[in-house]
Parts: sequence; C-alpha cells; structure tokens
Amino acid sequence: MKIALLGWGTVAKGAADALEFNKDTEIVKVLVRKEKPELGSRAVWSIDEIVNDPEIDLVAEVMGGEEPALTYVKAALSAGKHVVTANKLMFSLHYEELLALAREKGVSIAFSATAGGGIPWLINLQRMKRAGAIESLGGIMNGTTNFILDAMTNEFSEFEDVLAIAQQLGYAEADPTADIDALDVKAKLALSCDCAWDVMIDPASLPAMGIRYITSEDIEAFRSIGMTCKLMGRAERTEKGEIAAYVEPMLFPKDAPEAGVPGAGNIISAVSSTAGKMSFSGGGAGRGCTGAAVAGDVLDIAEGISVFDSACCNARVAASNENIIHRYYLRIDDAVEMKETSVAEMNRSVQAALAQGRRVFAASFVE
Ligand code: NDP
Ligand code: HSE
Repeated sequence: MKIALLGWGTVAKGAADALEFNKDTEIVKVLVRKEKPELGSRAVWSIDEIVNDPEIDLVAEVMGGEEPALTYVKAALSAGKHVVTANKLMFSLHYEELLALAREKGVSIAFSATAGGGIPWLINLQRMKRAGAIESLGGIMNGTTNFILDAMTNEFSEFEDVLAIAQQLGYAEADPTADIDALDVKAKLALSCDCAWDVMIDPASLPAMGIRYITSEDIEAFRSIGMTCKLMGRAERTEKGEIAAYVEPMLFPKDAPEAGVPGAGNIISAVSSTAGKMSFSGGGAGRGCTGAAVAGDVLDIAEGISVFDSACCNARVAASNENIIHRYYLRIDDAVEMKETSVAEMNRSVQAALAQGRRVFAASFVE
C-alpha cells in the first residue's frame, strides 16, 4: 500500500520508523511547509499533490491543529483515501462528521494514537464495547503532565524545568498549554466516551482542571499524607443514562496502580458489564510508541481489519457532572481549604478564580 504523511514531526518520524520495520507499505509523499532535505523528492508542498495522486491509498495526518488538518482529512476521505489520524484536538471536535464521511466514501478512518499515545486503548475499548456495556472508563491520559508530576514528586524537580524537558523529548503539544491546562486530556476523554457509547460528547461541556499552578508545596502537602497527585480523565454512565465526564488532578494512595505510573506513561481502564475492569498501560507520548500506534492503524487498514470501522455516532450529548460529588484540596493563591462539592461546582469556582488572575490548584481525593 502506498501512503502519504501530512507533517514531518515527532509522530510522523516515529510512524516512518515503524513502517520501515514492517515494509508492507511505502511512504511515497510527505506534506511539508518548510524544507526537510532528508525527505528528498518525497516532500510535497500542496495537499493537491496527495489527494489527486491515484497511487496513494492512505493518508496519515500527523501534523496537529484543527485547521488545515480538518480540511485536508476531508479532502483525503472525499478522494476515496483511507485516513489515519493522531490529531485528538481536530478529531474530537469533528468525530461525527468524519466518521460519516468515511462511511459514505467506503473508506476507513483509524485513530489509535488520538488517546493513550502508544497504548492500544481505543482499539481495545472498541472491542470491549461490542461484547458488554461499558459502565465507566478513565485514567492517566497525558504523558507530559505525568512526566512533570512524577519528577516533581520523586525527584523534587521544579515545574518549569521538567516541562522544558518534556518539550525537548517530543511529549508536549506544539503549544504545551494544551497539556498543562488539561485540554489534551479533555479531547482524549471525549474521544474515549465517543468510542465507548457511540455518541459525540461536546468537548465544550466537559470540565477540565489542569496542573498549571501546582507548586512544590502542594506536592509536599500530598507527600506528607501519603498521597500522590495524578491528572485523570474519567467518565461513567449515570443511573439516569447520562454521561458524567471530567478531567481533574486526583490524589491516590501511594500503593494505587496510578500512583506508580512513571515518566510519560499512561494507564487507562474501562469497566464492562461482562468483562469487568480491564487496564491498559505503557508509553503515553513520544516518537517511538506513538509512531508505532499510527503504523499499527496503517497496517490494519492495509490488511482490511480495522476495528475502527465499527465506530459510529448515534447522538450528540453534553457531559453531566452536577451529581458527582468529590472531596477536594483547593488552594487559591496561598490559602488552602478542604471542600466537598460536585465536580461541576468545583470546576465553575476554579474557572472563575482563574479568570480573575488567581493561582488556583484543585485536586480531588480518589474514592
Ligand atoms: P510536531 O510539532 O513534532 O510535528 C508536527 C509536524 O506537522 C511538523 O513537521 C510541522 O511542520 C507539520 N505541520 C504542521 N502544520 C502543517 C501544515 N499546515 N502543512 C504542513 N506541515 C505542517 O507534532 P507531533 O508529531 O508531536 O504531533 C503531531 C500530532 O500527533 C498532533 O495532533 C499531536 O496531538 C498528536 N500526537 C502527538 C503525540 C506525541 O507524543 N508527540 C502522541 C499522540 C498524538 P514544521 O516542521 O514545519 O513545524
Ligand atoms: N502531548 C501529549 C501527551 C501527546 O503528553 O500526552 C500524546 O498524546
């Protein structure tokens, strides 16, 4: 199968390494916007050179951002080409539309790397949900923030220093705000909900509290009570049939599996009515693991076995968090308090204080 890559960054290079290992596919073109001498004549500067090339069967979008990635993916699908994407921001916002377009054109769209980095999380979620109702899901879904929290907790590092290292290692988004303000986990959680329940969760309805203002004093306070802080995305089906979904820092006892996840690792679990709890862990960000996830999708499509072909979207819903009650550690500037309230209310308070320029950090105690 002949394929084209859109972008030549961390994930694209990792995918090229993994596809080179396999040799069943050939990367014939790569869309660039700056000179990339190592690509030689494979570098092209216009998407038209890819979508109008009848030899290309599959386009892997590994460039990021909402636009022009969305326009390019739609052009590829419309031209009858299979698509693989790692772009959770774009895909979580246009899930419904892109699945429908792929189905209309009779091609596959696969998106393993949009959540969990290299972990086969979404693939297994797709499989699990066909053999039992998914009751809840969630976990550590961002490598950059796990890398930061791990280093602050275990190596007494400072936030800014570790973030810079995560950027150098290719874990962070082009704009790391997406990582530290939890927008990246929000997109991954929305996509996980989409896969689990065949709906499109409106990302705007999904509250997300990040770790921008966590301090070494917060970390020390958690250490002194035997707790470890992790950034979590979580979702569950409520008794009313609604979906509660939220992203927030959570405090785990030191012996919990989540507490021990090192570096840029992720761990994500789902509970199914038949299979019970299944957990998936491994590399959550970076060239090697994410490139392998993209390559795995490409090879599945080449073999005609993409599990994502069964992904569908039957409704568009908003997350509902008014009845999810947590106990929180809340620090606004230098004042710390413990507070029991709903996820929705805590998120409103935190967003309001952030909008006033306050340095806010909140974390819930895991039940
Ligand atoms: P990088 O910034 O390393 O690479 C992005 C590449 O895309 C760069 O080569 C960039 O070009 C190119 N690009 C961006 N816009 C355009 C455009 N308009 N035309 C042509 N080329 C363009 O990002 P990553 O590889 O880290 O991430 C890519 C995608 O994969 C993102 O959606 C990200 O969220 C996702 N992802 C990343 C993971 C990771 O661990 N890094 C893990 C899972 C998913 P230039 O070199 O000129 O800047
Ligand atoms: N920036 C993301 C992370 C990349 O750190 O998890 C993987 O999706």
